[in-house]
Amino acid sequence: MLPSFVSPTASAAASVTPPPRPIPGSYGPPVLGPLRDRLDYFWFQSQDEFFRKRAAAHRSTVFRTNIPPTFPFFVGVDPRVVAIVDAAAFTALFDPDLVDKRDILIGPYNPGAGFTGGTRVGVYLDTQEEEHARVKTFAMDLLHRSARTWSADFRASVGAMLDAVDAEFGKDDGSDKKPSASYLVPLQQCIFRFLCKAFVGADPSADWLVDNFGFTILDIWLALQILPTQKIGLVQPLEELLIHSFPLPSFLIWPGYYVLYRFIEKHGAEAVAYAEAQHGIGKKDAINNMLFVLGFNAFGGFSVFLPFLVAKVGGAPALRERLRDEVRRAMVGKDGEFGFATVREDMPLVRSTVYEMLRMQPPVPLQFGRARRDFVLRSHGGAAYQVSAGEVLCGYQPLAMRDPEVFERPEEFVPERFLGDEGARLLQHLFWSNGPETAQPGPGNKQCAAKEVVVDTACMLLAELFRRYDDFEVEGTSFTKLVKRQASPSVAQAAAAAGAQQ
Ligand code: HEM
Repeated sequence: MLPSFVSPTASAAASVTPPPRPIPGSYGPPVLGPLRDRLDYFWFQSQDEFFRKRAAAHRSTVFRTNIPPTFPFFVGVDPRVVAIVDAAAFTALFDPDLVDKRDILIGPYNPGAGFTGGTRVGVYLDTQEEEHARVKTFAMDLLHRSARTWSADFRASVGAMLDAVDAEFGKDDGSDKKPSASYLVPLQQCIFRFLCKAFVGADPSADWLVDNFGFTILDIWLALQILPTQKIGLVQPLEELLIHSFPLPSFLIWPGYYVLYRFIEKHGAEAVAYAEAQHGIGKKDAINNMLFVLGFNAFGGFSVFLPFLVAKVGGAPALRERLRDEVRRAMVGKDGEFGFATVREDMPLVRSTVYEMLRMQPPVPLQFGRARRDFVLRSHGGAAYQVSAGEVLCGYQPLAMRDPEVFERPEEFVPERFLGDEGARLLQHLFWSNGPETAQPGPGNKQCAAKEVVVDTACMLLAELFRRYDDFEVEGTSFTKLVKRQASPSVAQAAAAAGAQQ
């Protein structure tokens, strides 16, 4: 049974619940406290352990800690946050009345407008800044316009990717090793090409450099922005010294950034003109915003999420069989072409699997927001914490979405978890998009503009895999078994009968 869901803003409950308690935990002495937490975060503990251990030590799902990057050269970056790791208190982060999202996308450290052509792009704007609504509406309009071609563009790109994978898989290198083909680079290329076409209306095949190296430019651009906040597994203490001690400079990527900028200026000119005419967004800001949504939100998000999804399904034989059967049933009469309607209506298990993957491995694990005012943060069972204006809240999704108060068998991957009425009720606790799955993105909130289309696209990828293959296996990020689809006896018989009649 589910516990009742406590709204963090339900101040009326204050009279019947215990008074707020101080938030447990401390930031430690200056310099040493942040340094200790930084080394734990990047070196001695995994990200999960970092939050789990502190929650256990404080016997609280809300506690104080430092979050890197910090010390010595992140000048002006205050690492002190209030961490939240349960599903009830987490929802405070979605309330625009409670939190200010200004310049806090990846935490107290902001890589700066040097990475975005000098524009403060929409994702760094707070809902109370007028420009936010303008830019978000523009992004949502572009998505709306692209809906007509999105699925066809995606299928075409996935087809090209799987052709490349098949060719690689079939290569005989003369060794006894079992065949394998990595899908990482082909998948990134596929995502990049398809997003350029679908979202911006710019076909990369018109520009050799962009077509072949556009995704690599984005990888480097992303890495320079987020590496100071990421554990990457280099030999320590090299990683601490070289990657986590100072902001990485944006000028290294300017030449690459301007290749992409000019590409959008030329080949996405229609979308740029639309931004100016319909939304009053000047050319430079329009292109910088489009590049950010394309490169950071969309390409970055899919590049993290889709490889994990393929690997998960590729390592689960029993699940694959059930998914394949569902996809094949949904294909009947559709000429093998999947659009939004098919993946929304006819593939409930595929969809539930995608949701479960987003629950277990949310691609954007941390969310931040600065308290606009003093308020009482409420959690399960009447627990209440006093938050002061200006404090930074830091929600860690992977634990909040394994909250045992909300999810049964929270640590287990349960593909059918989101099926049926009970599953639909659980969607309110699925937060990957920076909002409940049951809520809608809009200009007045900070929820992912592409919330629906991300889930649909992930479903389409699985559907395409099962349209092409009877079975596949994955180890790491490589296919190690690919069984091309055989025509089923009934299909073969029908084809033979049709041939005989001619
Ligand atoms: C797997 C893919 C994706 C994931 C995991 C993802 C996740 C997110 C998250 C967590 C946020 C909120 C960030 C924050 O303020 O804390 C966000 C915002 C946003 N996302 Fe996505 N996203 C994905 C794909 C996309 C795509 C395909 C688009 C559009 C083509 C998109 C457009 C946006 C926009 C415009 C915002 C800013 C919302 C605002 O400022 O109000 N995202 N996304």
